[in-house]
Amino acid sequence: MENKRKYLKWILISILGTVIVFLLYHSYEWKSLPYHSDEKSSPYHSDEKSSPYHVAYPRDYKFIMDDTPTCKTSTPFLVLMVPVAPSNVAARDAIRQMWGNEKIVLGQLIETLFVLGLPGGADAEQQQEKLRQESQQHHDLIQSNFLDSYYNLTIKTMVMLEWLAAHCTTASYAMKVDSDVLVHVENLVKLLLDPSTAKQNYMTGLVWWHSPVLRNPFAKFYMPGDVIAEPEYPPYPLGMAYIMSLDLPGKILSVSPQIRPIYIEDAYLGMCLKRLDISPTNPPENTMFLVNPTHPLSGCSLSKVIATTTTSIQQMTGYWKRSREPEARC
Ligand SMILES: *[C@@H]1O[C@H](CO)[C@@H](O)[C@H](O)[C@H]1NC(C)=O
Repeated sequence: MENKRKYLKWILISILGTVIVFLLYHSYEWKSLPYHSDEKSSPYHSDEKSSPYHVAYPRDYKFIMDDTPTCKTSTPFLVLMVPVAPSNVAARDAIRQMWGNEKIVLGQLIETLFVLGLPGGADAEQQQEKLRQESQQHHDLIQSNFLDSYYNLTIKTMVMLEWLAAHCTTASYAMKVDSDVLVHVENLVKLLLDPSTAKQNYMTGLVWWHSPVLRNPFAKFYMPGDVIAEPEYPPYPLGMAYIMSLDLPGKILSVSPQIRPIYIEDAYLGMCLKRLDISPTNPPENTMFLVNPTHPLSGCSLSKVIATTTTSIQQMTGYWKRSREPEARC
């Protein structure tokens, strides 16, 4: 009798547990992303509202600020494109003084631009006014008219490619680099000038060859099976810093209408590359791209790096100075 009651109790607890897990899972799936559906429906994807894991692209987003001579009156060898939050003027100013200020390296012209969406929040108008002044002062801001937010990063990447395809086809390479990343411009230019570096269909960075599609609803980059059925994303270089030859923006844009954009920008580029039948390339050394390394980095590590994530502007500044000193050797 006692055993039977215990048994029943366990069955009840198990059923209850299963129901709770099920409910948690689904409520998370419904609420996890702050997706605001848009009244205008996309000409391409009429069902975009149904999934928070897709983003509203393609759309006819427009550049509302584009007051830069880069690629218009100059033909740089390399353009550094930095997506950054509109409010993050501190990072922009720091980059302008550091690697963003290295304009001629190994005889090559390098230019740095910042890519922004629209500021949000209550003080959006004041922020926009400040951006206008910043643009007048520095002529290095490119702003498109979508709402700048974490879940819109794929839109940011795609409008960046639109801009490059429209203006920079005579330049050789572009690197997309996050605003918390230190760039060793000389090492980067060395790699790009190397005869073994391809001039077309070239994309490199920290390549993830077998990035699993995360099915745990609590994971940062959760993706349900009805959005991506495959267990792995196609190979792609990690979003913190990737380099491409400038024939690629146009090619990627030409296939992107066939592939519904997901909110994970780098994995989405991997999906586009796969459609183009283009594979990313590993960098010649695995010391060149570092993501969340153990800090502080040694002078030796800094002398070999092309791009590494940093934890603060101060750290980036310190690394940048050290990487330019002659004693930063191994
Ligand atoms: C993304 O941008 C679009 C266009 O501005 C906007 O309607 C949407 O709310 C944004 N999504 C998020 C999650 O911010």
